[in-house]
Amino acid sequence: MRNMQMSLAPRRAVAALAALLLAGSVAACGNSDTGSEGGGDNEKIVMGFSQVGAESGWRTANSTSVKEAAAEAGIELKFDDAQQKQENQIKAIRNYIQQKVDVIAFSPVVESGWDTVLKEAKDAGIPVILTDRAVDSADKSLYKTFLGSDFVKEGRLSGEWLVENSKDATGDVNIVELQGTTGSAPANDRKEGFAAAIAADPKLKVIASQSGDFTRAGGKQVMEQFLKAHPKIDVLFAHNDDMGLGALEAITAAGKTPGKDITIITIDAVKDGMQALADGKFNFIAECSPLLGPQLMELAKKVHAGEEVPARVETEETTFTQEQAKAALPTRKY
Ligand code: AHR
Repeated sequence: MRNMQMSLAPRRAVAALAALLLAGSVAACGNSDTGSEGGGDNEKIVMGFSQVGAESGWRTANSTSVKEAAAEAGIELKFDDAQQKQENQIKAIRNYIQQKVDVIAFSPVVESGWDTVLKEAKDAGIPVILTDRAVDSADKSLYKTFLGSDFVKEGRLSGEWLVENSKDATGDVNIVELQGTTGSAPANDRKEGFAAAIAADPKLKVIASQSGDFTRAGGKQVMEQFLKAHPKIDVLFAHNDDMGLGALEAITAAGKTPGKDITIITIDAVKDGMQALADGKFNFIAECSPLLGPQLMELAKKVHAGEEVPARVETEETTFTQEQAKAALPTRKY
């Protein structure tokens, strides 16, 4: 009996080893199917995401969308808030490269100055997805795709509404512009689109244009300066709702009625902006959707699997008048 147990033990060890090897080869097959390194079918894709900051209601809704969609898609998300500083974003991207994440996604605070770090990611074999904002890199192979809005179109739609609604005005229509973060894609593009549209009517004149950095505090402060410097302001074009909301305080404090004495056009259509529009304090909003999370996760899965993705994925958007805002508000998600 004793002898028999001793002779069975080595055979059991051999069988156990064979089972282990078999399991290992199955896991290896799973790796090549998913394109992941060092794990099986169940291994989670790891995404490093560098967010611009928390400057606006739009941004908060965007961060929530990204976090919720990652959890929903079973993607492990490493999230970094760059506090609107490019150097923080570059640092975060370099950390993600060191950590060997599977995909890097980021919303670039400004358009320029990304080539070096993007090249580092490419050399490390980590695909990059641009989300919300674009970069001006000439080498398009430095990133896989760009998911986001057409900011030029948002500016153009805002300008076209103004042209249409100023038809009956006599004399010059004085416009002040609150720009977004200097050097950012939405600030550059919205300015460009708006200017192109209002060029159709020579009486529409931008008399002052300055950055409010996409924040309420910035919008309020710059609008106070505009009001002091310019006795006749007919229109405010703010590159986002938050700056428009900050400007409301300055306009009211100056004894003027927003939406009546000064026509207000903004971009985003977040809840607070839509409420101001429904209340008659804003006059028109061009929508910019922050709900990019689900599409971002889909694209991440595809690039991770080595599938082809379109170079540009554009977000669907609309515009709102005061009446449309009243109708849309009850079911607005953000
Ligand atoms: O990049 C999108 C813009 O950034 C939004 O319009 C603005 O609200 C945000 O801060």
